[in-house]
Amino acid sequence: MMPSLYVVTIDGPAGAGKSTIARLLARRIGANYLDTGALYRALAFYLDASGIAPANGKNVAEALGGLVVSLQGGRVFVDSSDVTDKIRTPHIDAIVSRYAELPLLRASLLELQRSQAAEGPLVADGRDMGTVVFPKADLKIFLSATAEERARRRWKELAERGERTSFEEVLSQVIRRDGIDSSRALAPLRQAEDAVVLDTTALSIEEVLSRLSSLVEERLKERLNRGGRDV
Ligand code: DC
Repeated sequence: MMPSLYVVTIDGPAGAGKSTIARLLARRIGANYLDTGALYRALAFYLDASGIAPANGKNVAEALGGLVVSLQGGRVFVDSSDVTDKIRTPHIDAIVSRYAELPLLRASLLELQRSQAAEGPLVADGRDMGTVVFPKADLKIFLSATAEERARRRWKELAERGERTSFEEVLSQVIRRDGIDSSRALAPLRQAEDAVVLDTTALSIEEVLSRLSSLVEERLKERLNRGGRDV
């Protein structure tokens, strides 16, 4: 195994290719993979199924106080329920941003996210990985792509899973979610100042992966030249 960086963060809007790329990059460099969107989706799923709307701050606070979100073998649990297979539906796509903007809910996931870096080298994807959760990450990537291309990818993924939605519907969801994720007061989607930005619109997965692998190698060389890690 090649020596790994401590933390690589991948942020960007929905459909930019973050999770596919982060998973493959993690495998290539021998790191663990953390999908933070799954954590927000798991809580949104659970609260919604319990009839607790995001606007109902008091009930959200009460519910969060008694819930434990955990990651076990690549699956996400809320208390003892494995919700992994229930969180990637158009319904959750439509509601998750409204939960993800709640400060209390974000705070409740912070420690769990940070603790993953103690398990070994990590590739983490989300919206605020490089800005809030891992501000000292060794390498920060910001992936982008046009809204049309991101909607096209998402629509294809849903169609492959047998979910029937029109392209226009998916596009308007992508634009709506971008708006909420970028404009919320706490930890909005934005590039970290020291992030490397990569527009994936015209790139294949393999092309993105090979660029990122090169960046990881460059950072490793820089670190070796500096004589070790400084995080
Ligand atoms: O990446 P995703 O589509 O699975 O993310 C689901 C939602 O969670 C998305 O609307 C943004 C939010 N999210 C967030 O606010 N912060 C993160 N680190 C990851 C996801």
